[in-house]
Amino acid sequence: MTRIALITGGAGGIGLATARRFAEAGMTVALADLDSDACVAAAKLSGSKHIGVRIDVSDGQSVVSAFDEVERRLGPIAVLAHFAGVLGQRLDQPRPGIDEYDLESWEHVFAINARGAFLVIREMARRRKATPVPHGRIVTISSAAAQLGGYQANAAYIASKGAVLSLTKGAARELAQYGITVNAIAPGPIDTPMLHAARGQSAGDEGFSRLSMLPVGRIGRPEEVAAAAAYLVSEEAAFVTGATLDVNGGLRMQ
Ligand SMILES: NC(=O)c1ccc[n+]([C@@H]2O[C@H](COP(=O)([O-])OP(=O)(O)OC[C@H]3O[C@@H](n4cnc5c(N)ncnc54)[C@H](O)[C@@H]3O)[C@@H](O)[C@H]2O)c1
Repeated sequence: MTRIALITGGAGGIGLATARRFAEAGMTVALADLDSDACVAAAKLSGSKHIGVRIDVSDGQSVVSAFDEVERRLGPIAVLAHFAGVLGQRLDQPRPGIDEYDLESWEHVFAINARGAFLVIREMARRRKATPVPHGRIVTISSAAAQLGGYQANAAYIASKGAVLSLTKGAARELAQYGITVNAIAPGPIDTPMLHAARGQSAGDEGFSRLSMLPVGRIGRPEEVAAAAAYLVSEEAAFVTGATLDVNGGLRMQ
């Protein structure tokens, strides 16, 4: 039976790379994003049944509507890869200090990164409790910034990604009884539009000023995060839950 995968942030660098990887593995993919380009991207994946849907992960009704649409068109979602997120600052300017970070930006970042994670995980839990599927999987994205206290990110991003890590563990404990694993990926710097846009310049290794912090000597590729996600959602990963998989080039070792 084809597994149905919903990827939030599906129009983004890591989300789209993961969609390609999942499609190659034989899954039917629903790309969900604020950005309607997700629909265009979905049409370009290998295979024919993939779809794009609009979602605002910070909005409860939008989350329900997106899950409704995906399940009506494709069937029960077995895999949720929740990758939508925002940084809440520009990286070509110095990291804003806590003393200068405004409440509106804090609320915005938390609404998408922390509340969004809660809303999509809750919706997945409700649906799989009502209609179980084999090998249910949830993968979230935190960040090495949350683990390190940030090497260039603002307080709201770090704290909201910390919330993602804790929520992932809590959900893993609760949802194991339904055969659903819940794991987080904590990437280091990855060459995606988030990094490009935030810098206001082309990214790539030359755009990353802290290369000396990375033992592998380069920033990561979205495909390398996608590969980690592919493992975590595989049937073979059934005994891995509540874990945080570091994909960070050695930026942080525990
Ligand atoms: N790129 C990195 O260096 C890096 C490092 C660590 C963690 N991450 C995390 O990985 C995830 C993916 O990041 P990326 O680098 O691919 O960035 P990206 O900006 O390319 O992708 C993020 C996507 O999320 C979507 N999005 C934003 N707000 C949304 C909302 N309210 N509802 C639905 N979709 C929304 C955007 O439209 C975008 O397509 C993010 O959660 C990010 O925090 C990225």
